[in-house]
Amino acid sequence: MNQRHLTSASGSAHGKIILMGEHAVVHGTAAIALPIPSISVTVDIFAKHQGPTELECSYYQGPLKQAPENLRNIQEVYHQVLQEWRFCEVPVKLRIKSHIPHERGMGSSAAVVTALVRALATFYQQELPMTELHRYVNIGEKIAHGKTSGLDTIVTSSSQPVLFQRAEVPKSIHSQLDGCLLIADSGHTGNTRLAVESVCQRLKDTPDTQSYLSQIHDLVQDAVSALKDNQVETLGQLMNRNQEFLQKLGVSTPQLDHLIQVARHAGALGAKLTGAGLGGCIIALCPNQEIARHIQQALEAEGLQQSWFLNFNRYQSMEV
Ligand code: PMV
Repeated sequence: MNQRHLTSASGSAHGKIILMGEHAVVHGTAAIALPIPSISVTVDIFAKHQGPTELECSYYQGPLKQAPENLRNIQEVYHQVLQEWRFCEVPVKLRIKSHIPHERGMGSSAAVVTALVRALATFYQQELPMTELHRYVNIGEKIAHGKTSGLDTIVTSSSQPVLFQRAEVPKSIHSQLDGCLLIADSGHTGNTRLAVESVCQRLKDTPDTQSYLSQIHDLVQDAVSALKDNQVETLGQLMNRNQEFLQKLGVSTPQLDHLIQVARHAGALGAKLTGAGLGGCIIALCPNQEIARHIQQALEAEGLQQSWFLNFNRYQSMEV
């Protein structure tokens, strides 16, 4: 058993949105996801002299062992990491500070576990290859969501847009796109596990479903070219077509559909839900910042509470 550790350490990660390809990606097709470095989560670890290991986050404070079921991903990954690294557990306080809204399709669960494992690696002065980090985060994602593509795991620790397909090496996309995305939170939580299960059920029950997934795959491939060739209008149209398939898959809601319509009428080149759906966020592709603000105001008039801007160009200056 190892004993070496620091007295405190921190780890962080960021949120993400899926530009196109959600749900289909669970069944082996491609998806594009964008990291959102400005919406982040930090996990701080402080060594304690005595008492049980504690967890502090926005909705629970107390012994890690007694944390509610929706924090079981954190509990399990924490224990798995210590067991595999052969560290004798020292009592610690784990403090999670997150700016990523929960259950809105922004990768909160993957980002928290990424930040936790990074913090543990620093605390115990352990090397953490990316593949190991991803393996631990996938353990947490299976607990949190059941069947998962693994996309959130990759993107919450990536600095570049990613083209992801299961069983293939994720590819960074070097976007040249002018224009920005407005990410708008419907204020309603989605449930990734339920949404993914409902699409799986539809695949068994409804023969057309497989063809929807294949068509989403083709849209994603076209979207990669649009991103690289700065075809912002084409990308908008592809997003709209992707949304039609998400409706057919049964994961949009009347409320999301309404927000999407409002965004399009206010000048969005394309708009769709992002992530698992059944609530959560929509994304709207805007030709420029001025129109993005106009769309934001139109959505606010419909009760929108939270929104963020994401500029495609900002990725160009970042390292892969
Ligand atoms: O809602 P989120 O952020 O958990 O995204 C889920 C994306 C899905 O494609 C529906 C599931 C997955 O594992 O890729």
